[in-house]
Amino acid sequence: VPGRGSSAHTAEAAPNFALAKYWGKADDAAMVPAVPSLSITLDGPLTRVTVHEIDAAEDEVTLDGEPVDERWRARTRRFLDVARCRARVRGSLRVETTGGVPPAAGLASSAAYFAALARAASETWGLDTGTDAVSDLARRGSVSAARSVPAGFVVLDPDHARGDVLAAHTAFPARHWDLAVLVAVVDPGPKEVGSSDGMKRTRETSPYYPAWVESSRELFERCLRAVEDRDLAGLGAAAESSCTRMHAAALAAEPPLLYLAPATLGIIDAVRRLRSEGTGCFYTVDAGPQVKVVCPEQEVERVREGIRAAGGVHRVLVHRPGGGTARPEASGDH
Ligand code: PMV
Repeated sequence: VPGRGSSAHTAEAAPNFALAKYWGKADDAAMVPAVPSLSITLDGPLTRVTVHEIDAAEDEVTLDGEPVDERWRARTRRFLDVARCRARVRGSLRVETTGGVPPAAGLASSAAYFAALARAASETWGLDTGTDAVSDLARRGSVSAARSVPAGFVVLDPDHARGDVLAAHTAFPARHWDLAVLVAVVDPGPKEVGSSDGMKRTRETSPYYPAWVESSRELFERCLRAVEDRDLAGLGAAAESSCTRMHAAALAAEPPLLYLAPATLGIIDAVRRLRSEGTGCFYTVDAGPQVKVVCPEQEVERVREGIRAAGGVHRVLVHRPGGGTARPEASGDH
């Protein structure tokens, strides 16, 4: 039972995935990325977060009605401490999450979660609920979460910070380009090494990390231009390089970070084959074995068949550019 005549605030957000990848922080504590990134915010699956103020010493965190594990709870509390500090409040929240994708599976679930939570907490505590402020706050939960706050084709560029504020913004709206994104789910289990630890290890031990950082801005600019020109082949070439260079840097860490599973490589192979047969499409892979395949709307069925035939695919989700955090229903004092 919510305490203190509390009001409920609900927000929703969807995952985003990067065409030009972010991998590595310039400042761990302040959650500032070392490289610019360009992503697509999807139209689903939506993660819904509802928060209530409660009379309790600590925040309570549930996922589909069950308490979450200790790591997730601690991470949520650390994030809410940042929001409390900004709002100059002390109270605790109950955070209820439903829907979306399983946490820590390389499906950008943390991005959708922190984007929605940043909006719901901002509404609860009277913080600025503009896109910039919510995106900047979401970044403190997970850098990529900043990019799930705006919709469509989204940029997060550390060179665009204004003082302490670093927010993502929509570079092109979702309707700019009729693309589909197929997410081939290979293994929905949690990943071995989370992205924060993985990028730290890459920065500290991979001899390829400096080269990755150095080449990332050029790839980012190429991706941005290709999106502007709706140039699928150009975007595919730059986005696949961003993906493979990120994984090359991670693979060269010690101990190595191997996020790709055999089925991941099988799907990549299938995408290359589809392309050589004339189907416009390209792949990208984040810190997990899932493969995202981008193609024009009219190629969805051909691509779906191609990646299913590769084997080892649990299921294929099909989404479009869209999203941005939203309030699905009116909420207020009861
Ligand atoms: O912000 P995090 O900790 O979820 O890191 C995301 C890193 C990648 O997904 C691998 C790349 C990206 O830019 O989203």
